[in-house]
Amino acid sequence: MGNDLEIWHATYEAKTPESLQAAYKAWAPRYDQDTIEGMGYVAPNLAASLLDNYLESKASCVLDAGCGTGQVGEALQKIGYSNVDAMDYSPDMLDQAEKKNIYNELIREDMGSGIRLPENSYDATICVGALTYAHVGPNVFEEFVRITRPNGYVCFTIRDGAYQKYNYRKTMLELEANNSWELMAMLDWDYLIKESVTAKFCAYKVLET
Ligand SMILES: C[S@@+](CC[C@H](N)C(=O)[O-])C[C@H]1O[C@@H](n2cnc3c(N)ncnc32)[C@H](O)[C@@H]1O
Repeated sequence: MGNDLEIWHATYEAKTPESLQAAYKAWAPRYDQDTIEGMGYVAPNLAASLLDNYLESKASCVLDAGCGTGQVGEALQKIGYSNVDAMDYSPDMLDQAEKKNIYNELIREDMGSGIRLPENSYDATICVGALTYAHVGPNVFEEFVRITRPNGYVCFTIRDGAYQKYNYRKTMLELEANNSWELMAMLDWDYLIKESVTAKFCAYKVLET
């Protein structure tokens, strides 16, 4: 595949999990350079600092869901977190993340069809860049709540455009209505500055059931 925009678009147009993973296999070695320098990707740093507003301790156990090459893990490490696990279903992206030596554990998992982790596994779950076109839909929210302990936090980005197309808000509101989680923040912030793309940056507190 050719330039960064072609690969990026391929990830948005994938029709199956296999074709999405093939696109990330091609992109993994140059994903960081293309996204940060080429597109002005600022979401990992912004989401990590949003989550940091709520966590009481830097020792909190955090899951970086859809970790990719580990940009969120790096952002969390920079502000003092060292107890972070990573989850993704692309082995090639996980390989890049592993090289950075920032995660305790790397978990290969398709979070689109249930997450094979026990309930209350983490103090916080963060998911950046994976709630977008042809990636992960709103069904994952219930799983994020399940694997995050009560009074812990779930923090995520949803790319604008995909937010409307897949109606993420409907599930977010259903989980608010049934007291699964409480909205702390929903902010429209820059996501890919050089592509003029924004996203919703959300933080929820998981409630006791
Ligand atoms: C745009 S990248 C974002 C990576 C990283 N969080 C970041 O901000 O740079 C999206 C990631 O989500 C992963 N992903 C997409 N669908 C997934 C699924 N169903 N289960 C697990 N990971 C998935 C992809 O493999 C890819 O690494």
